[in-house]
Amino acid sequence: MSNDPLLQPYQLKHLTLKNRIMTTSHEPAYPEDGMPKDRYRAYHAERAKAGIALAMTAGSAAVSRDSPPVFNNILAYKDEVVPWVQNLTDACHEHGAAVMIQLTHLGRRTRWDKGDWLPAVTPSHNREPSHRAFVKKIEDWDIARIITDYADAAERMQAGGMDGIELEVFGHLMDQFISPLTNTLEAPYGGSMENRMRFSMDVLRAIRKRVGDDFIVGIRFTVDEDQAGGTTFEDGITVCNTWRDSGMVDFLNVIRGRIHTDPAMTDVIPVQGMKNAPHLDFAGSVRTATGLPTFHAAKIPDVATARHAVSAGLLTWSA
Ligand SMILES: Cc1cc2nc3c(=O)[nH]c(=O)nc-3n(C[C@H](O)[C@H](O)[C@H](O)COP(=O)(O)O)c2cc1C
Repeated sequence: MSNDPLLQPYQLKHLTLKNRIMTTSHEPAYPEDGMPKDRYRAYHAERAKAGIALAMTAGSAAVSRDSPPVFNNILAYKDEVVPWVQNLTDACHEHGAAVMIQLTHLGRRTRWDKGDWLPAVTPSHNREPSHRAFVKKIEDWDIARIITDYADAAERMQAGGMDGIELEVFGHLMDQFISPLTNTLEAPYGGSMENRMRFSMDVLRAIRKRVGDDFIVGIRFTVDEDQAGGTTFEDGITVCNTWRDSGMVDFLNVIRGRIHTDPAMTDVIPVQGMKNAPHLDFAGSVRTATGLPTFHAAKIPDVATARHAVSAGLLTWSA
């Protein structure tokens, strides 16, 4: 057996991942009518065939009708998605890769002319500079409905044979609650850190009630918004450790920064010419502080750096 750190298997609950290489969530905009059909399946099946351990499919699959896709994303709020998801998972499993999917509600991160033109909701009246939807300040009945939508979507993904789900918590609704920069609500969902976390905890509880304890549920979170007045590293670790201690979260996927403007997003998703592995040591410090299995991607373009990330204990997986 190889000694290469990237080729060592890893046990995530009941799931054996055959190595430490994964694809992180990104939307190729291949859905047809919001469904992951043949092209989508082929896209992920090829990577599974190439030997990755885990495909984190979708980018921002939408849990609610009032979260219209910014790209051409998967509509996880429709029941008809289940057989398409089943085809996708079967095709990846056939090559020995595990398959999960990222679920989200975009909150304010959408446009005014998308989807069914329902009002975008967020915990403030502030528009996102990039997408500029006119937002409705979220109300109690919106919150209750969206919590149920998350649980319904998670159940659909489980029914479609997914090995797990990842909740998107940077720049989207769940993070719009957590960040002091985007939450002007009062209690019980605004104000203190405990209150700003309440939505994520309610969603996790609703999901766990629906999918059980064994199903794998992780979170992709900006642990540090890197902006004055935003979530600090210390805040982010408090949030992560609260999730960890709840026993409802099985892994973290670490992000650093914000995506509300294009320049900010470029620090989260670095482009050509920018520094390599800018947040790798940061992700390692999150892993140390939380002890949770940790995924991370941000311009780790070579095998040597990925190998270092795993062998030095910075990450459990690399993309
Ligand atoms: C076109 C595109 C779409 C993406 N969509 C998502 C998404 O929906 N959700 C998410 O968490 N990350 C998304 N990402 C970020 C990637 O998962 C990854 O973090 C990023 O590409 C940095 O890793 P890399 O340098 O290895 O490409 C997207 C990236 C790209 C390029």
